[in-house]
Formats: sequence, C-alpha cells, structure tokens
Amino acid sequence: MESFSAEKKLGTSSQLEKLPPYLFVDIDRKKRAAIDKGLDVINLGIGDPDLPTPDFIVEKAAAALRNPAHHRYPSGKGGIKLREAIARWMRERYAVALDPETEILALIGSKEGIGHLPRALCGPGDFVLTPDPGYPPYRSGTILAGAEPFPVRLAESRGFLPDLEAIPPEILLKSRLLFLNYPNNPTGAGAPPGFFEKVVRWAGRRGIWTAHDAAYAEMRMDGLPPASFLQAAGSKDVGLEFHSLSKSFNMTGWRVGWACGNARALKALAQVKDNFDSGVFGAVQEAAIEALGGGLEAVRQNMAVYKKRRENFAQGLETCGWKVFAGAGTFYLWCQTPPRCNSMQCVEKLLDDAQIVAVPGSGFGRFGEGYVRFTVTEKEDRLKTALLRIAQIKW
Ligand SMILES: Cc1ncc(COP(=O)(O)O)c(C=O)c1O
Repeated sequence: MESFSAEKKLGTSSQLEKLPPYLFVDIDRKKRAAIDKGLDVINLGIGDPDLPTPDFIVEKAAAALRNPAHHRYPSGKGGIKLREAIARWMRERYAVALDPETEILALIGSKEGIGHLPRALCGPGDFVLTPDPGYPPYRSGTILAGAEPFPVRLAESRGFLPDLEAIPPEILLKSRLLFLNYPNNPTGAGAPPGFFEKVVRWAGRRGIWTAHDAAYAEMRMDGLPPASFLQAAGSKDVGLEFHSLSKSFNMTGWRVGWACGNARALKALAQVKDNFDSGVFGAVQEAAIEALGGGLEAVRQNMAVYKKRRENFAQGLETCGWKVFAGAGTFYLWCQTPPRCNSMQCVEKLLDDAQIVAVPGSGFGRFGEGYVRFTVTEKEDRLKTALLRIAQIKW
C-alpha cells in the first residue's frame, strides 16, 4: 500500500491541472512588466471598452444604490422587471418572443453563465463541441464540469464557420452541447443568413444542445442587422443564447447579462447557479433595465466609434503589409502573423519592439496558431501611434 503523504493530500483539484493557463493572465503579466519598466504601452489586448458607460445608466444605478431593498439578496434569476425589460429588448431588436418567467435568466455577466452551462447539461463521459479558435471559457467550463471539449475548427477558408459535417460520428454520439459565437471572438466573423437555421436542423437531428454566445450581437458592422440564433425556427427546442450588456453599453465592470431560450436548459442552469451565486446586485439590475429601455442610441454611437477605429486600424495594418481578416463586426481584428513568426513570437515582438499588447491566436486554441488579435479599445490617436510603431518593426 502507498504510504500516506500529507503534503500530497494538500494538493489542488486535478480538474484544474487540466486547464490551459488563462490567456489574459499571462498577457497581463507581460504587460505589467513592460509598464513597470516605465514603457508607454498601448493595450490592444483584452476586449474591454475604453469608452465610459453612458451617463444616464450610471445616474440610475447611483440612485438605486440608496434603495435599501437592494442591500439584501437579489432574486437569483433576476427580478421580473429586468426579465421583462430583456423580453422587450429581444422582441423589439430581434423579433424573438420570450416568456420572462421561464425563458430568461439574468447572469452576473454572460461569462458566468457560459462557464456554468456545461455543469448544467453535461458530465463525465460527455463531449462538448467548442469552436477553435474560440473564447476560452467554453473549454474551461467544460473541463471543470468533468466533460471533454472537442475542438471544432473555424477555418479562414470557410469564413470561420464550423464544418459540423466533419466531426467524427463517434464524437457526435457522445456530444451533448455545441457552443457557437457570432459575431465571433476572436475572428470578427459573422453568421451568414440561413446559418442558424442549418445548425438548428443539424443539432435537432442529433440531440445536441446548442448554446449561441451573442455577446457581440449588437456589434455587427457589415450592414446586416444584428441576428439572434433564436430567430431560427425550432431553435428554442435545441438551444439557448447568451447576451451581455458589457460590450454594447460599455459595461464590462458591472457584470450583467442574460441567457434566454429553452426553458428546460435554463432551469438546469439556474439550478447550478443557485448553488454558487445569489444573482445580480439589485442596483445593477436597475441600471440594466435603464440601458435596455432607453439605450439604443447609445449603443449605435458606441458602435459607430468602434467601426471607424476598426476600419482605420485594418487599413493601417494592411499598408504595413499585414493580412487582415475583414470580418463582420466586434472590436477585434484577426490578422495573419508575419512570415517566419508564430503567434506567441509575434505578440512578444509587438510588445518588445513597439510596446503594443496584442493576443496570440494560439491562446484561443490550436487552430488560432498563425494569427494574432488586436482590439481597437484605445483612442484614435493612440491607434495611429500604434500603427507608426508597427510600421517600424523588422520582422
Ligand atoms: C465571446 C465572448 N463571450 C462572452 C464574453 C463575456 O462577457 P461578459 O461576461 O462581460 O458578459 C466575452 C468577453 O470578452 C466574449 O468575448
């Protein structure tokens, strides 16, 4: 028999050991080291809006802070007023009808719901189909649920849409959940008309839950209207959708979003959440109601700023010889790394030679290798400075 080792027993979870290091933590460490050296760093890394939350939302929350009702535990699934405001938003923006009682669940940011979803729908022995390159929590949430991620390649040649027919049948048999995300982080790709309908038919035939991450739904910039997976006929039978106020209203710090769609899946997600958290702070719920009720103009203004920055930055990069994927939206630019340079080497050189933080494509999965992601969350003059510095780099 193995001898007892107290030191070994004081270890951490074996599930944690299976997680790849969280990408932004690593980038952040390198960025801080450069700042500590006194360098003028231009941060085009993490997708965190530099524009402030619109005043009318902040004012509402400031007043709501004084309401003692909000000093107590909030409703776990979000107050009915918030859920009704979400239902109205989904109806008016996307022509999607939702029952606020059963088909909407407030989240402490959409990341929270995305991370918890695999625990609600899957377990050991199950596969979760995760887009690659893709937002890392699809993968990490799956691993922490004891299930196994199966990377579904998003290839440039297919407009960064998944080739669902290429997934091996033995994987499909054990797959319980498919994550999708359009407009897409990191590539900026958009779902073409008819895509969600095809996915619904595919998932329905195979009994695979589909979770569409619509965190960037309002950031569609190619002329097509913002789209919801739930517009597709039959979508509520197989899936749900995540929305966020973070990017469209410049509210990343507030932590509020929602999941909507299939009532059974949402009930399961709520059950998981009930065991981990106690819902969105009441004053933040009031801010979200205010945003959704009267904030469309603010969203449009924000999007116009990001669109212009994105176009100008893409043009500048192309002038420097970079190959940039045009995409359909988001505030990201997905670019091929210069020749003879893998994505991590490219990001290190950007930081060392130009003091620019970007994200290596490999951090979004192995199929992200060969790419780098820039986020245009700095003011125009800073973006111009970044381009001047990039133009000087000898690759
Ligand atoms: C694709 C995608 N989904 C979801 C989120 C999470 O957003 P939040 O938790 O702020 O709603 C992000 C954040 O960067 C993201 O890129």
